[in-house]
Amino acid sequence: MQHVTLPPGWVAPAGSLRGRVVLVAGAAGGVGGAAARAAAAAGATVVLLGRRVKPLERLYDELVAAGGAQPAIYPLDLEGATPEDHAMLAERIEAECGRLDGIVLAAARFTGLIPLAQSEPLEFLRSIHVNLTAQWLLLQSCLPLLARADDPSVVFVLEDAARVGKAYWGGYGVARHALATLATMLASESENSPLRVHGLLPPPLRTALRARAYIAEDPTALPAPDALAPAITYLLGPDGREARGCVLDLRTGA
Ligand SMILES: NC(=O)c1ccc[n+]([C@@H]2O[C@H](COP(=O)([O-])OP(=O)(O)OC[C@H]3O[C@@H](n4cnc5c(N)ncnc54)[C@H](OP(=O)(O)O)[C@@H]3O)[C@@H](O)[C@H]2O)c1
Repeated sequence: MQHVTLPPGWVAPAGSLRGRVVLVAGAAGGVGGAAARAAAAAGATVVLLGRRVKPLERLYDELVAAGGAQPAIYPLDLEGATPEDHAMLAERIEAECGRLDGIVLAAARFTGLIPLAQSEPLEFLRSIHVNLTAQWLLLQSCLPLLARADDPSVVFVLEDAARVGKAYWGGYGVARHALATLATMLASESENSPLRVHGLLPPPLRTALRARAYIAEDPTALPAPDALAPAITYLLGPDGREARGCVLDLRTGA
């Protein structure tokens, strides 16, 4: 996928996502929370998907207090979810929201850097599943619903492939490489349909995942994930058509 940057000076038009329904997977995480807040602030109805209910409820309350469309909570553990569970998710979104215009795939499982030879087999499998196959199952189940939207958009939150392809990134690194390949394939297969497929490549951000990988780093030196808000609003909204099939690369110097 071609790498692009946010158009210089781009500012989200007020209400650019009004009337749209956006599903955020990993909504209680750093990037997912930022995506949910950004989409809601731009007027979208946001479906908050995550594995733990309490953090989703806190985010729900925050979005309600901020005004805007009423969000929805959808607890789902991607580790154990079956294809039937994913199909049920799509059915529920259709039944309760009537449509789906966008998905942000921001769920991620990372338990720490470890040499491949020492990685615990089941943890390796979980990592591949949550970071790759479960993301695809979720997205696949929602494709028919997205296909009915006028301007559907999928945002894959990607990793810096060179960084997570290095030693000790284990199943997480392998899965994140494969997820980028999957995004490229889907973008290519969607060229003649309304579906827009995007990658979003964030800079280092102050999140739990980052802290697990860089334990000696001062997290306060990193930007908060809400710095992603303009990029997320851009990719989910009509202006994002310009970045169809592209990775919006927010790393410094990109
Ligand atoms: N942070 C960075 O600097 C950075 C830089 C580049 C790219 N990214 C990308 O951003 C994405 C999100 O990372 P993040 O930094 O936001 O991480 P994060 O704050 O740890 O958020 C990850 C979210 O995924 C959820 N999750 C984990 N396992 C799950 C499961 N089985 N089912 C459902 N949800 C599950 C987590 O829930 P729990 O809290 O319950 O575990 C958490 O809410 C990743 O794809 C990463 O590659 C991050």
